[in-house]
Amino acid sequence: MLLVKNVVMEDYYWSKYLPLLLGLVWRLDLAQGLKCFCNFESCPNSTCETDGYCYASTTLDKGLLKHTYHCIERKLLFPIEHPFRCASSKAKNDSLVIQCCDSYDMCNRDLRLEIPRKPPEPGPSAMAWHVLPWLLGLTVLGACAALSLWWARRAPKALKRESRSLFAPEDSFCDTRHSLKTPTIQDMMDVSTGSGSGLPLLVQRSIARQIQLADIIGKGRFGEVWRGRWRGENVAVKIFSSREECSWFREAEIYQTVMLRHENILGFIAADNKDNGTWTQLWLITDYHGNGSLFDFLNARTVDARTLIKMALSIATGLAHLHMDIVGTKGKPAIAHRDLKSKNILVKSNLTCVIGDLGLAVRHNVAGDSVDVPSTNRVGTKRYMAPEVLDESMDARQFDPYKRSDVYSLGLVLWEAARRCEPPDDYQPPYHDCVPPDPSLDDMRRAVCQERRRPALPARWQAQPALAALAKLMKECWYENPAARLTALRIKKTLANVPLDELGRT
Ligand SMILES: Nc1ncnc2c1ncn2[C@@H]1O[C@H](COP(=O)(O)OP(=O)(O)OP(=O)(O)O)[C@@H](O)[C@H]1O
Ligand SMILES: *[C@@H]1O[C@H](CO)[C@@H](O)[C@H](O)[C@H]1NC(C)=O
Ligand SMILES: *[C@@H]1O[C@H](CO)[C@@H](O)[C@H](O)[C@H]1NC(C)=O
Ligand SMILES: *[C@@H]1O[C@H](CO)[C@@H](O)[C@H](O)[C@H]1NC(C)=O
Ligand SMILES: *[C@@H]1O[C@H](CO)[C@@H](O)[C@H](O)[C@H]1NC(C)=O
Ligand SMILES: *[C@@H]1O[C@H](CO)[C@@H](O)[C@H](O)[C@H]1NC(C)=O
Ligand SMILES: [Mg+2]
Repeated sequence: MLLVKNVVMEDYYWSKYLPLLLGLVWRLDLAQGLKCFCNFESCPNSTCETDGYCYASTTLDKGLLKHTYHCIERKLLFPIEHPFRCASSKAKNDSLVIQCCDSYDMCNRDLRLEIPRKPPEPGPSAMAWHVLPWLLGLTVLGACAALSLWWARRAPKALKRESRSLFAPEDSFCDTRHSLKTPTIQDMMDVSTGSGSGLPLLVQRSIARQIQLADIIGKGRFGEVWRGRWRGENVAVKIFSSREECSWFREAEIYQTVMLRHENILGFIAADNKDNGTWTQLWLITDYHGNGSLFDFLNARTVDARTLIKMALSIATGLAHLHMDIVGTKGKPAIAHRDLKSKNILVKSNLTCVIGDLGLAVRHNVAGDSVDVPSTNRVGTKRYMAPEVLDESMDARQFDPYKRSDVYSLGLVLWEAARRCEPPDDYQPPYHDCVPPDPSLDDMRRAVCQERRRPALPARWQAQPALAALAKLMKECWYENPAARLTALRIKKTLANVPLDELGRT
């Protein structure tokens, strides 16, 4: 009996569930053209157009109500008759209310979302026919339940043991205890990411619901980062409070850009909104890297010349991938990071790096040659801001300037890392010698724009081939004239050609 149940569950999961998901997502891509009200800066005429739903949300932040309106892409709506992205928490006293609509153009402008109030149920709108495939799925589940209940009656003692795994959503799918081989996150990615953008949303939620938080590993400006456990694997969970909804939404959206996955970009696993009864938490789940950020790493450790070049190359490779425009149906828009710094780069176990924290990133819209600037109020980190960002001379409507300011920040990161090359100097952040610890915009403007200071390049670096090569690159990253700076691709190619074998033993 145990066997029968598991065959049914596994079979349900792998052969019915995934194709159903992928089929639905594909089918829905065909619909087009709903206009929605949008209060993001980037929306022309306060309007956006979508193949999905219009979105409205209200958040309560220190007594102030904040309303957000925008479009939500169809591929992010799942399951279609009750999309998670449109679901508010079930709590009575909540700080975030979300609703979606697609009944007419600009329908979200008429949604009146109040806090506190009962969460909106997604109306039984004209979506009835979408429900059919789900009814099918439910029938299978129902059959499972009936089967198991029938069996439970016959064997009352077994009920206690088995009912938990059947009815608790946390571990109902492919129960780990009985399967021959449970899929790891990597297995699931391999099955479902032909598009290179990530797991289907229902799978994301199912993973998110099974994660147990272990310990807190960091606290940034926009949330806490925890180490979590999922079926024995470590994952990193970034927890945003509901008032950071925009940052969470944006970061999840960027990570799910088609073809973004890359060995030097932090691996995205899932986004989910969780509700603990009084508070909605927004989760962003990514790969976990035990060595922490490059900042943590450089503070704790020194590097040899070979490792330094390997790290620098991996960062440049990640940035070049972000910046690259891949055309075609399986293409990827160019993305600029806008908050590149050593704290937003993580160190993998083989000491290559991945770039994370894409919450501020912007994408290049090739068709209109425009930039999709996110609505978050967040600005980059002052210390790493390029001179043209500091003095606001950058043309924010063009895309190239964003890439060039990323390259400036990359130059500073390379400098931080190079200082720790044996024989090392102590760790210092860039501009440690000319601005106070928590510099203001004015402090930075004075040092970088007016006094035109740049990090010092010690004379001893010239004696070491690796450091001499890096020093030359840095200088070419932080030119005042953005157009004179190297591109990430150029930096990557130059670093790839540094002869590692001739670096010697330092
Ligand atoms: N995937 C991860 N694996 C391991 N550690 C991580 C991961 N993501 C973040 N961390 C750790 O958590 C810390 C906090 O990250 P977070 O991005 O929230 O803040 P930050 O980068 O320090 O500052 P900011 O808010 O300016 O981005 C990082 O500095 C890093 O030490
Ligand atoms: C914005 O609205 C004006 C008129 O209201 C129209 O002429 C213009 O084309 C619109 N722009 C866009 C980008 O839709
Ligand atoms: C609801 O939340 C507010 C703050 O958001 C709090 O002041 C109030 O006491 C809460 N009410 C209940 C019934 O929990
Ligand atoms: C829910 O989370 C909030 C914030 O993390 C916490 O203050 C609150 O006590 C939690 N409530 C429950 C019921 O766990
Ligand atoms: C950290 O890096 C070292 C290499 O210096 C590696 O041996 C170790 O496994 C890494 N630790 C983690 C937790 O990834
Ligand atoms: C580091 O590990 C990744 C997999 O995590 C692998 O793809 C890459 O080739 C490795 N790089 C080096 C230099 O060993
Ligand atoms: Mg960060």
